[in-house]
Amino acid sequence: MDWHGKVAVVTGGASGIGAAAAKLFASLGAKVVVVDRDAAEGAEAATDSMLLLRGDVGSEADVTRVRDVVVERFGRIDVLLNNAGIMRRHERAWDWSTAEVQEVLTVNLLSQFITIQLLAPVMEQGGGGSIVNIASMGALIPVPYSPAYTASKAGVLGMTRSMADSLNTIGVRINAILPGFVDTSMTVDAPARAFMPAMDAADVARAIAHVAADLSVTGEFFEVGLEEGSAVLNRIEDIPRVVRVQGF
Ligand code: NAI
Repeated sequence: MDWHGKVAVVTGGASGIGAAAAKLFASLGAKVVVVDRDAAEGAEAATDSMLLLRGDVGSEADVTRVRDVVVERFGRIDVLLNNAGIMRRHERAWDWSTAEVQEVLTVNLLSQFITIQLLAPVMEQGGGGSIVNIASMGALIPVPYSPAYTASKAGVLGMTRSMADSLNTIGVRINAILPGFVDTSMTVDAPARAFMPAMDAADVARAIAHVAADLSVTGEFFEVGLEEGSAVLNRIEDIPRVVRVQGF
């Protein structure tokens, strides 16, 4: 893959999967703009191909500023990686405050809506582009200790599929990646640590680049998981829907 001349925006790129993807995109030749609420604003010293912008992706004002900076500086956007996310854990619904549920839905789901609304028109002006939304296997396999997280990630799947046709009309593809368990700061104290092997963020980053560059797919879901110790990328084609209810 050669991404010279391409501009990629990576949300949540200061850590974990987003940081690994930003590094990979830059190594492929792209100019990379990292948006993160924890980013130290400015160009990264080591390379002049990465620009760090501090911003909250749940804020329309912050994402509007990001759009304006990117347009002024680079004039185009080819790839948008919607990766920023948070985890909050309470198993029982009645232990959540509505503010906490809203926070998870805003950062994990609404933010992706906002970045697409504001950045897809820039992609169109440049002749098209590719959006990758980070969901989670938790969208399909329940994460019992976080109903809000599970809801947000299932929402990403619905949104991805629902937007594919309209984005197609402006030459923009959109796909979702569902990582399994990944070794990042989000999972440092995850209960699953005790029994589940974790992938490297770099494995997920390779999958993201692959899906972002694949011109043949839009509105699709891809799982990145471990099989016999190696990371694999699988297209999720059939989500089983058979439900048998006694007496029916
Ligand atoms: P991480 O905690 O290492 O990185 C998340 C980044 O998002 C951080 O740099 C954080 O500052 C940033 N961020 C959070 N809220 C933000 C906001 N409002 N505005 C801007 N930036 C914000 O976590 P990780 O694991 O790299 O997560 C990346 C994505 O991958 C998330 O969407 C997560 O839900 C998803 N994921 C992670 C899995 C794992 O096992 N680590 C598994 C499946 C999905």
